[in-house]
Amino acid sequence: MIDQEQLVDDLKAVVCSAAAAAKKFVGTGEKEAGDQAAVDAMRQAFEVAQMDGVVRVGEGEKDDAPMLYVGEKLGNGQGMKVDIAIDPVEGTSLMAAGKPNAIAVVAATDQGAFWDAGSAYYMNKIVVGPEAKGAIDINKSATENLQAIAKAKHKKVEDLVIYVLDKPRHVSLRQEIEAAGARVDLHAEGDVIGSVLALISDSEIDALMGIGGAPEAVITAAAVLALGGDMQGKLAPQQDEERQALLEEGCDLDRVLYLKDLVKSDWAVFAAAGVTAGLLLDEPKDSASGEMVVEYLVIGPEAGEIDNDFYALLTD
Ligand code: FBP
Repeated sequence: MIDQEQLVDDLKAVVCSAAAAAKKFVGTGEKEAGDQAAVDAMRQAFEVAQMDGVVRVGEGEKDDAPMLYVGEKLGNGQGMKVDIAIDPVEGTSLMAAGKPNAIAVVAATDQGAFWDAGSAYYMNKIVVGPEAKGAIDINKSATENLQAIAKAKHKKVEDLVIYVLDKPRHVSLRQEIEAAGARVDLHAEGDVIGSVLALISDSEIDALMGIGGAPEAVITAAAVLALGGDMQGKLAPQQDEERQALLEEGCDLDRVLYLKDLVKSDWAVFAAAGVTAGLLLDEPKDSASGEMVVEYLVIGPEAGEIDNDFYALLTD
């Protein structure tokens, strides 16, 4: 447990450093530069982290990404052996446009336990909190899932709020949710935040539904596991090139990916820090003493454990 406490402290430092670095690019339109600043800050924070980590979900393959690439070793090699899934800025467009809900996020579990996203960019997902665990089935219609979620949560379908990304691919999903009587909470970007909101009991969101990033699904799965929620996914390639690559890798596009497939462990840690003020976290703020104060949320490693607080760090 001592090691896990150290891991949590290190992951906190990693996400808060990234959020503070990205803050300088909020509203500047500089999506890539902001992402790079967050990558650099994460990388620096990982250098002193006491772990023997390896990136399972990162900024891409070694040839395309100079740092935090899939397979890269992280940490000083002396602590726990862990898999790391990273998104230095989840919602880069939100950051660049100065819009709410951009976060820096990282997740960890046992080494070898995170699902390898391979060439997958997109995944259809349903995420629910602990009350609706066991009620979802991604092979059933949205209407049937809404009915099952409502039943499990002792609510009416009309009282459910479903977080959906505002994308053309979701027009029919949105219509079906609305026709079933539930409400849709549409967001341009950010399905990790939507998933976490679905997991937390005091948020208005009852579930996340729809197609988002496959790497984001792995990060999300860490939070789902740590909070005792439920999640199912199915690969959902949006272009021929992605479909072809997945088929060449031997992926079964009809396979349901359960939580136990996405994280093959009994524990995980999810850590996020606010880059822009949003539904989950505030933006970093300068303090009177010259430090930058960043709001973070850590879920896990103990089941049901949530730590939501502020972290002060010196910036240049
Ligand atoms: P990025 O920060 O990597 O751009 O991700 C933002 C995001 O909205 C994710 O939350 C979501 O999973 C994914 O993009 C959806 O992708 P797309 O915008 O291509 O539909």
